[in-house]
Amino acid sequence: MATRHFLTLLDIEPATLEKLLDRAIELKTMLRKGVQHEPFRNKVLGMIFEKSSTRTRVSFESAMLQCGGGAIFLSPRDTQLGRGEPVADTARVLSRMVDIIMIRTFEHEKIETFARYSSVPVINALTDTYHPCQLLADIQTFIEHRGSIRGKIVAWVGDGNNMCHSYIEAARQFGFQLRIACPEGFEPNANLVATHSDRVTIVRDPKAAVEHAHLVATDVWASMGQEEEQDHRANAFANYQVSPALMNLAAKDALFMHCLPAHRGEEVSEDMLDDPRSVVWDEAENRLHAQKALMEYLLGNWKP
Ligand code: CP
Ligand code: NVA
Repeated sequence: MATRHFLTLLDIEPATLEKLLDRAIELKTMLRKGVQHEPFRNKVLGMIFEKSSTRTRVSFESAMLQCGGGAIFLSPRDTQLGRGEPVADTARVLSRMVDIIMIRTFEHEKIETFARYSSVPVINALTDTYHPCQLLADIQTFIEHRGSIRGKIVAWVGDGNNMCHSYIEAARQFGFQLRIACPEGFEPNANLVATHSDRVTIVRDPKAAVEHAHLVATDVWASMGQEEEQDHRANAFANYQVSPALMNLAAKDALFMHCLPAHRGEEVSEDMLDDPRSVVWDEAENRLHAQKALMEYLLGNWKP
């Protein structure tokens, strides 16, 4: 069987994605009950981080340790990747030594090249273009609080960035309508929007986007690698802050999500994360459970 990779949400078919999230919820319950579950015994996860991380690193590493395996953290500072060893060579070597690999990097093409040369599953742990692991956790969180997301309305308020792109693909795979409120010049990739135009609408005004929405999500205005654009972006996004007042315009039972880290006073008001509609801490925790389910699937330990 061909090696399975998870570079975008489109790599796993919708019915399997839904079952995978049911499995994530089951794994969460098992962990809470103290059930020992070690499908990754003797398995090693290689973790390549070319950008910073708190949640992604800790959730993947804990997932491996809790399930009987191990994880190796690799940064460009102390690997030959950082000194120019080609991605294809690194992929061929690492995949002879570890069982599964996750990568957080800049250009999406880099992870595609890596996967082409890897004989073991490769997971996208964020590129400039996509963040699919976060969407597994986000949808799991919605299901836990409100049931199926199919047919619901989701509002994305802010930058048309990697998270927004994965929300667009989630709209396709999980069957919801996505409204994106972003300032001019900060739209998501036009081809991606056009491909999924039956699911996605660009709405400029955040108030219009959140009307009747069941879920409102946002992210930082300047992503990793865009630090020098911070001031320019802060001006452009000044009217795109999510606050309890904006949430009041959404559906009565609307939830709020943010992949974190958050900048209070910028994309979220000081009080938004602590609002009763915010589920950001569950969302962060679910990275652990969703990625366990994902790795069980990619490693063939669990069949949908
Ligand atoms: N949400 C997320 O991916 O967080 P980290 O950057 O801390 O991994
Ligand atoms: N859009 C953000 C997400 C961080 C998890 C970034 O790429 O920095």
